[in-house]
Amino acid sequence: MRLGVNIDHVATIREARKGREPEPVAAAVLVELAGADGIVCHLREDRRHIKDKDVYMLREVVATQLNLEMAATDEMVKIAIDVLPEVVTLVPERRQELTTEGGLDAISNYDYLMEVVGVLRSNNITVSLFVDPDVQQIKASARLGADLVELHTGQYANAISARSRQDELERLRSSAAAAAKLGLGVSAGHGLNYHNVREIVTIPQIEELNIGHSIVSRAVLTGMDAAIRDMLALIRRGD
Ligand code: PXP
Repeated sequence: MRLGVNIDHVATIREARKGREPEPVAAAVLVELAGADGIVCHLREDRRHIKDKDVYMLREVVATQLNLEMAATDEMVKIAIDVLPEVVTLVPERRQELTTEGGLDAISNYDYLMEVVGVLRSNNITVSLFVDPDVQQIKASARLGADLVELHTGQYANAISARSRQDELERLRSSAAAAAKLGLGVSAGHGLNYHNVREIVTIPQIEELNIGHSIVSRAVLTGMDAAIRDMLALIRRGD
């Protein structure tokens, strides 16, 4: 199973001071050196974390696979065609949301998405649609000519009872099987962490996971010891 690492929240930390560190592109290099299979970033309409310049810099530096998450808007399509990431993942976007809350509605937005998928694919970009684990959405994604579906694991990750978590896992299982049967590549992501990922990896059709927040969160904590020691070494030189 491949791992794509979403580095949006490295940019979130940078934007807390609107300065130059930490640079997402530096994180991308470390992510690749550690063996991950791809870099994912979401250029949001409000540019709250990743900026246009990050996407262009990532395009220069990423040697594995760049997966650009974006809304299916004219502005974003133009950028995608200019940047040419290996993969574009189309996601729904609401301005006020903290993170992507639901899957794309491939049924209601069918005609418009058909156009966008066509334009991206004709530029040799692999197109992934981020959809809820719902067979109707998956069938619509296949009819739209998408290469992949990314199954939204948010409901599974946020399930509060063991029962609903099991139900969500079953939904993911049957959706992954349905997608593979229709010839779609299958990835999954959203809200996955070091605990809930274990059951997801038992779903045989899922080929790639895209994980961001939990990895950046862990990096902040596991990196704390070295960061403190480095600062102490500087400030205690004269003691
Ligand atoms: N996949 C998609 C399509 C997303 O929108 C996101 C969040 O940007 C992720 C994966 C990663 O989610 P998380 O940060 O919760 O791991």
